[in-house]
Amino acid sequence: MARLSVNVDHVATVRQARLGVDPDPVSAAFLAELGGASGITVHLREDRRHIQDRDLALLKRTTKGELNLEMAATVEMQKIALEVKPDLVTLVPEKREELTTEGGLEVRTQIDLIKKFINPLSVAGIKVNLFINPDPDSIKAAHKIGADGVELHTGGYANKKGRERELELRRIQDSAVLTKRLKLSVHAGHGLDFGNIREVADIREITEFAIGFSIVARSLYVGMENAVREMKRLIG
Ligand code: PXP
Repeated sequence: MARLSVNVDHVATVRQARLGVDPDPVSAAFLAELGGASGITVHLREDRRHIQDRDLALLKRTTKGELNLEMAATVEMQKIALEVKPDLVTLVPEKREELTTEGGLEVRTQIDLIKKFINPLSVAGIKVNLFINPDPDSIKAAHKIGADGVELHTGGYANKKGRERELELRRIQDSAVLTKRLKLSVHAGHGLDFGNIREVADIREITEFAIGFSIVARSLYVGMENAVREMKRLIG
């Protein structure tokens, strides 16, 4: 069964609405792990719109499973990652004006640049995944870069319907097979929810899902532990 890393960014979004201390993403992460999450994901954005440096530092000390830091490939973030040393860094593209991460990282034209960027992280023992669109060229580029794995962008699948969704699912499946063949780890995420997870969870090559918004939203009604348990049941 694939692992589930719960993204608690949007617990911090609510807290930042009033710039106070509640609700605390660190407490939410604790409850997510109680509900069976195998790890916690946070995206420390340049503009600090939700997760703060303090959250990351505390999560490093309190997360029992894998701590995954999503970040842009900037000098500032590289320094923070080297200080905090999460288990995994997932490099994502970042635009200030976007509501959430829009597309995958453009890896095909930046092989040398990304290779150079991830080298100190790898030397420090941090695994590095690249968040990419599910296409063969991006996967081959991730392999050339020497990343530990990829996170396949499932947003296209999540936002489509009918035949288009089926095609997108097939793209993800083919991408997962190719990624595994290249001996990279295969994660997937973005836009996954209680209604669309089943079909992607059937793709055996995917070993981990990063899911945030839908679980945080459901937790408002049923609590974080129950929301995570429910998602795990659907993945299983
Ligand atoms: N994976 C990556 C790389 C992301 O940027 C995000 C959103 O922060 C997620 C997974 C989680 O997406 P969602 O909140 O839609 O579940």
